[in-house]
Amino acid sequence: MPGLFDPFSLKNVTLRNRIVVSPMCQYSAEEGLANAWHGAHLAGLARGGSGLVVIEATAVSPEGRITPGCLGLWNDAQAEALAPMVAGMRKAGAVAGIQIGHAGRKASANRPWEGDDHIPAGDPRGWEPIAPSAIAQGGNLPRLPRAMTQADIDRVRADFVAAAERAREIGIEWLKLHFAHGYLAQSFLSRHANRREDAYGGSFENRSRFLIETLAAVREVWPEDRPLSARLGVIEYDGHDEETLAEAIALVKRFKAEGLDLIDVSLGFSTNEAKIPWGPAFLAPVAERVRRESGLPTTTSWYISRPEQADALLREGKLDLVSLGRPLLADPHWPYAAAQALGVENPAWKTLPAPYAHWLARYR
Ligand code: FNR
Repeated sequence: MPGLFDPFSLKNVTLRNRIVVSPMCQYSAEEGLANAWHGAHLAGLARGGSGLVVIEATAVSPEGRITPGCLGLWNDAQAEALAPMVAGMRKAGAVAGIQIGHAGRKASANRPWEGDDHIPAGDPRGWEPIAPSAIAQGGNLPRLPRAMTQADIDRVRADFVAAAERAREIGIEWLKLHFAHGYLAQSFLSRHANRREDAYGGSFENRSRFLIETLAAVREVWPEDRPLSARLGVIEYDGHDEETLAEAIALVKRFKAEGLDLIDVSLGFSTNEAKIPWGPAFLAPVAERVRRESGLPTTTSWYISRPEQADALLREGKLDLVSLGRPLLADPHWPYAAAQALGVENPAWKTLPAPYAHWLARYR
């Protein structure tokens, strides 16, 4: 099987290697607009040599932001601010992706380093979160969301479509739907968050409906030759894992039938009671099972930071792409270090642009 530095093609898009920058919120925008911080951050990651750089969870509507600092793609000014950054990422040799999402009941929170908790109701910085049911996440996110009406559901689905269209128009080549981490889509699927008694709650079929409808609607506007991926929380570690995982795998098969090209296996984060077995690459066996049973190309992240381990996960056929978050914040040039560690020929030229590669290859 291919390794970390073998290219990967999906639809009409080829990644120079199998390293993916996992989406990471910067909580640094105002009114959802990308600014100089995002430009520097994304340029650095693209220059660092990863094959695919996925821009952070970007809200499809103002109330879909996690915090007031989250990026948005609900208006044209936001798309225009991102466009030159996308062009720059491509120039640096990376494929530019974006994750679009809606925070649901976890919306209207303070930035992680400013409390990570809900902004109190009545505070003008916040807004009323919406969710499948009026059930709070709890813990530091106690605010009761408003249960969505059918009109809300129809509007949010349309917001996902409009954001996908804007991403398409500014040259984003890889779209990732945020269906994970206890945000809106995940909470439709989760029994912890969804107690609806209409067509969107109750049975697995009904709890899946919002996700499938959203995916299908986005697929209609997302170009057939560009990859469409989704990040799904397939497990909660809440004591019902076999059932949750079996449902998630059945759902991923439905996604595949609806035109999904790749699945990013992640956690549900729908309950604060979870007992998550954090550890190096702990989700890889789960991802491998999703990959095997669904037949979809698969990636995962979480505590994969050693090049040898990342390479082995690919060569053993457990994953198709390796996604990294914090290791790339620590060192955007992680791909160069990994190429050196794995004995790749010409590691600098393999991973870095000429103004860096020339000097690193020449003076060692
Ligand atoms: C994240 N993560 C994350 N996940 C996601 O799907 N969308 C997002 O916008 C974010 N935002 C985010 C911000 C920051 C600062 C961190 C550290 C993480 C999760 C991230 O994509 C990744 O899955 C985890 O960080 C686990 O991978 P690592 O960091 O162990 O390689």
